Amino acid sequence: MSAAPDPTQDIDEVLITEEQIARTVGELGARISADYAGRELTLVSVLKGSLPFMADLMRSITIPVRIDLMEVSSYGGTATESSGLVRILKDLSSSIADAHVLVVEDIIDTGLTLNYLVRYLRGKSPASLRICTLLDKPARRLVDIPVDYVGFTIEDRFVVGYGLDYGELYRNLRFVGVLRPDVYTEPA
Ligand code: IMP
Repeated sequence: MSAAPDPTQDIDEVLITEEQIARTVGELGARISADYAGRELTLVSVLKGSLPFMADLMRSITIPVRIDLMEVSSYGGTATESSGLVRILKDLSSSIADAHVLVVEDIIDTGLTLNYLVRYLRGKSPASLRICTLLDKPARRLVDIPVDYVGFTIEDRFVVGYGLDYGELYRNLRFVGVLRPDVYTEPA
């Protein structure tokens, strides 16, 4: 795949604008701050896609927060489909035993990656474990996972931007958009 010099040229349609993202992330932060009032919260973000969301969300939360970062990769799938086989590339840096943990995800698609992660984190005995995702694609869900905080529910389209990639590119876009179909079909 080769991207245009200006990555925004590869976008067919802006699905969620920078302004919409900022407003929704602010609202999520306010809800989370109210729900966890009087407690400390540990945000566990899943690299790399959740990076911009995590950075914005943590700054819109007003209660004391700790952060930790994990990186997982699913393997055995394709460029746009996950397989549910998950490898931990970076583990938690600190114990989450007895902590109130909120997993911060970029997108839940089939739910296979998160399903694995939730089982893994539950094994570390947190006081509570909830999930916050910027984007939810419920149409493609293969496993039933209760998601506590959802920014936007979207249709079954492959999206990039605001952390989400195709072939590791487009993560730096400030909006969430749909790629031009020919970007998928270009020779590598
Ligand atoms: P799941 O295991 O199918 O829920 O996939 C979760 C992961 O797949 C996300 O954390 C993303 O890395 C990736 N993913 C799923 N849908 C999209 C998309 O539309 N654009 C970019 N990445 C996606």
